[in-house]
Amino acid sequence: MLFTPLQLRGVTLPNRIVVSPLCMYSSKDGLATDWQFAHLSTFARGKAGLVFTEATAVEPRGRITPACLGIWTDEQAEAIKPTVRFIEEMGCVPGMQIAHAGRKGSANPPFKGGTPLAPEDADAWETVAPSAEPVGEGWPVPQALDTQEIAQIVEDFAVAAQRAHTVGFKVLEIHGAHGYLIQSFLSPLSNTRNDAYGGDIQGRMRFALEVAKATRAVWPEDLPLFFRISAVDGPADGWSIEDSVILAKELAACGVDVVDCSAGGVRGAPAFRASDSGAPLKAGAERPPGFQVPYADRVRKEAGVKTMAVGVIIDPQQAEDILQDGRADLVALGREIMYNPFWPLHAAQALGADPESEMWPRQYAWAVKRRGEIAAYNASQHR
Ligand SMILES: Cc1cc2nc3c(=O)[nH]c(=O)nc-3n(C[C@H](O)[C@H](O)[C@H](O)COP(=O)(O)O)c2cc1C
Repeated sequence: MLFTPLQLRGVTLPNRIVVSPLCMYSSKDGLATDWQFAHLSTFARGKAGLVFTEATAVEPRGRITPACLGIWTDEQAEAIKPTVRFIEEMGCVPGMQIAHAGRKGSANPPFKGGTPLAPEDADAWETVAPSAEPVGEGWPVPQALDTQEIAQIVEDFAVAAQRAHTVGFKVLEIHGAHGYLIQSFLSPLSNTRNDAYGGDIQGRMRFALEVAKATRAVWPEDLPLFFRISAVDGPADGWSIEDSVILAKELAACGVDVVDCSAGGVRGAPAFRASDSGAPLKAGAERPPGFQVPYADRVRKEAGVKTMAVGVIIDPQQAEDILQDGRADLVALGREIMYNPFWPLHAAQALGADPESEMWPRQYAWAVKRRGEIAAYNASQHR
């Protein structure tokens, strides 16, 4: 199934392998650089079915770091256009993830500790959030958004979607996970408002659903819309998988086609709770293979919506089994595909889906095929 196409509205993904959004902290003034072209075009040469950009900010305060990608100007949209064109040239589908960092913005990249920028830093900005609650100790208190400012950010998402369409993206994902602005509205741990955007789950979902509706209204009818959620975010009084099922049904009613099931982030650390046991994860490395797959499975079955599974998907057979078992419709890879950008081509060989190396880019295919013949000959000599 990994190498069967998936039709979503008017778009056919050539296979079920997705490059998960991966922040690169390599932009200048929100503009894509040679790095984005080199990075994303490699995955297209590796033939992932759908290649997502990193989280792309819908307004300047929506960046995580000063070096994050943006799409709040036409110039920024133009700068990513060659990458979009190349992904399509390789027969893959280009997708953009649009995002707002909220109270986790104005920060250093992970390789500089991921800590907040000092307020006196020339590149720092005042962050925004549903409530004036900091991410944690050492983080600045964000400014609580009023309803007019909320409406402006909803509009920023819609304008970003229009720009993404103008430069040729075929899939759009709204980033509603990892403790950034949308999820900080969803979670009772970060949203303590008592107006229409807070309180019970209906109030806390309002902003997410307004963004989804406004984006769907301008994103063409024949193009699919994804929404990334943090399916759980602990501790126990946080956002639950039951909440995610409710949200997924509402998102589907707004015209969202795929729910991308990640987890964690509202308190800084990703994926607070382990999948099957429900026990808290203790260390950053404590991530069993496919640890978030149960979320994609449950949302798919209980909300009746297509899902994408992500998180420590490593092995081709593991990816195949997730699809065969009906636990998700797509599998997304992050760290593994950075480690091996040609993962899809190698997976196709391992699963017997490309015995003649025909999936490879035509520039490589004949030589890779010959490589296989040489390897087979040499192996036969050693028998
Ligand atoms: C370097 C890096 C950057 C990331 N940037 C983003 C991002 O921009 N948006 C997002 O939703 N998730 C982001 N993530 C999370 C990944 O998309 C993915 O969900 C996570 O790494 C789990 O998948 P994996 O185990 O295959 O890496 C990032 C992860 C890494 C390692």
